[in-house]
Amino acid sequence: MTTAGRHQGATSVAVRPTTALAGRLRVPGDKSISHRALIVGALADSPSSISGLSDGDDVARTAAALAACGASLRTLPGSPGTGPRWQMDGSADMLVAPAHELDMGNSGTGIRLLAGVVAGFPWSVRFTGDVSLRSRPMDRVADPLRRMGAQVDGRGPRCLPPLQVRGGQLSGIAYTVPVASAQVKSAVLLAALRAGSPSVVHEPIATRPHTEVLLLQAGADVEMVERAGGRDIHLRPGPLHGLTLAVPGDPSQAAFWVVAACVVPGSSVVVESVHAGPGRRGFIDVLRRMGADIEERPSSEAEPGIASDTVDLTVRAASLLACTVTADQAPGIIDEVPILAVAAALAEGTTVFEGVGELRLKESDRMNAVADLVTAFGATAEIRTDDLAVHGVDRLRPTRVDARGDHRVAMAAAVAALACPEGAGATVVDGWDAVVTSYPGFATDLARLGATMEPVGWPPADLPDQPGAPGTGPRGTR
Ligand code: S3P
Repeated sequence: MTTAGRHQGATSVAVRPTTALAGRLRVPGDKSISHRALIVGALADSPSSISGLSDGDDVARTAAALAACGASLRTLPGSPGTGPRWQMDGSADMLVAPAHELDMGNSGTGIRLLAGVVAGFPWSVRFTGDVSLRSRPMDRVADPLRRMGAQVDGRGPRCLPPLQVRGGQLSGIAYTVPVASAQVKSAVLLAALRAGSPSVVHEPIATRPHTEVLLLQAGADVEMVERAGGRDIHLRPGPLHGLTLAVPGDPSQAAFWVVAACVVPGSSVVVESVHAGPGRRGFIDVLRRMGADIEERPSSEAEPGIASDTVDLTVRAASLLACTVTADQAPGIIDEVPILAVAAALAEGTTVFEGVGELRLKESDRMNAVADLVTAFGATAEIRTDDLAVHGVDRLRPTRVDARGDHRVAMAAAVAALACPEGAGATVVDGWDAVVTSYPGFATDLARLGATMEPVGWPPADLPDQPGAPGTGPRGTR
């Protein structure tokens, strides 16, 4: 996929309400861990072997960017269900400045983490991305990297991509991350690996710890000190060794099936090998507070390190009640808000997500996208500064929604469509192709659970185009 090749409305799918979802599946490898595993493998001075990597375009962009910097990556056939095994030679000394700009596609994690990596090298690298990425603020990484000695330039006061990073000769930094962001923390830590002095990063609210955990596994001199809700990470520059890692399933992707099983009556679904470690299991806790029936068992495939937090989730349909997610819990569920909002739309009462203003800066303005999404399906939503309130309804109604180029909005819409009353008609999701960034196999996994989605011709002559219009369904549907 080229950056120019994806635009809103490029592909549309029709999703019909379904009867009970049933079956087992395994979601793609965790996207956050996948980016970091590849980066650590590239910065290591001995080989790495990584299985279960995300097969989404975001992670492919990071792999391609690292290859352009001279990292050696090869894939070997892996075990069934987990995709290929990635072998990396681990020749950090052989890394070179890329000969061309690095196109990170839709990936905020890719561009921000690699900006940190590049800052540590005496290179000048230009990063670009798709329309969405070029509108996302990079000042949050530019600021600490500049303080460490790198030169970072982007467009305007928010330092929008294309981003030029000129690195090398960094000093360590004592940095308090001003916004709860694992990407910012990680950019600083990755730059700090090659600085001339130690660094400490202070997080007032702890975020996903994958970078520090993987650095520790790769032999970095890193220490984590947990303190009242937050975390300090102390890091001394030094070499890394390679990793042998099985990337566990992505909890953010698992959340779509967990909510689908909660809200489609009669469902019983098992999602296998899901990462449920600190900073990532918030959606399970929130759904349980809402009355969800979720059983969690250690996965039989658990491996040391990150993978020790790997669980199989068994979910059965249940009636949901509203709850409040407080601002200190927000970083732990920020990626799950679109799908949790679908659960909230079918819960009794008003669910409030407090302190989720960061949603405005994701792949789309997710604050508005999510409010509009649940409203289109017949629930109501209110945005109160940085809080999002969703008032639940008894039943959703089929509609037509634009994914706005945002993979999580597209998949949340598909789940809401499944949960409409049987026989109510199809929902059309325009811009479905956004899901390639994180979950290209979503439709295949949906089929595993006994439901289907179908491509819609363009323009779709026989489907509703008004929110709430009764769906007649595409030709040839079951
Ligand atoms: C991510 C961190 C989060 C999250 C994003 C992935 C990561 O973003 O929303 O999808 O892998 O570090 P922020 O760091 O901006 O909070």
